Amino acid sequence: MYKKAAEVIRRANRGTAFTGAGISVESGIPPFRGKGGLWGRYDPTCLEIEYFHSHPREAWVVIKEIFYDFFTRAKPNAAHLGLAALEREGMLHTVITQNIDNLHQAAGSTEVYEFHGNSQHLLCVNCRARFHVSEVSLEVLPPTCDYCEGLLKPDFIFFGESIPSNAYERAVHEATHSDVLIVVGTTGEVTPAALIPRMAKQHGAAIIEINPEESAFTHEITDVFLKEKATVAMTRLLNELGITTAE
Ligand code: APR
Repeated sequence: MYKKAAEVIRRANRGTAFTGAGISVESGIPPFRGKGGLWGRYDPTCLEIEYFHSHPREAWVVIKEIFYDFFTRAKPNAAHLGLAALEREGMLHTVITQNIDNLHQAAGSTEVYEFHGNSQHLLCVNCRARFHVSEVSLEVLPPTCDYCEGLLKPDFIFFGESIPSNAYERAVHEATHSDVLIVVGTTGEVTPAALIPRMAKQHGAAIIEINPEESAFTHEITDVFLKEKATVAMTRLLNELGITTAE
């Protein structure tokens, strides 16, 4: 399977990666669903936009615990580094991610489109001022704007919010112009993100999937299924391609 995946990537003219929470699990960030999933421990209501506006303090208590208390210590793992190495070797053009943890950028990937935004910045819902999370104290919740005392919201997409248009347009462009899509660590259950690999397949892309479990994509669109954890599969794939990553 790894030889076949390597062959597909070598032959491709334009490669794209589509990643989900599973690629960051080995960096210590729990997934949302499945074993140890966050939605088995926390109520996803905290990420519904109406609830956030009606119960900002309660929502922020959970958001801080999930996304800021331990996310910020996470480091890129061999899978993130592997995708950055593929980009350096000209074998991958873009990473489309559902993740908000900034680990692809930290690993060195430069063409990263974040379908669900990024947790590094907070926005004032009132005056739209933008702060890096390191500039804001989360000791008193909810955090408020230094300029207008408005409520600060993480700059990632809540349930009920629309996908950032630039990320959506770029993702659709890449999905319809790539001849290989490497899907890593996603259940494929959340739309519209999950439409991207399906669009790629419809436009003739070969789908390589890395996931220790089957996903909604596995029997529907996947051509090469590497049933393995992301760091193990990516390391074996790069070995097949004769690429070493800067660890
Ligand atoms: N390596 C690769 N994949 C893994 C690993 C691992 N070590 N561990 C778990 N996985 C897989 C699981 O098998 C599962 O398919 O990662 C996937 C995690 O699924 P989800 O938690 O549902 O993550 P994702 O598909 O990215 O969720 C999509 O849902 O709640 C929203 O906005 C949130 O972006 C998220 C979206």
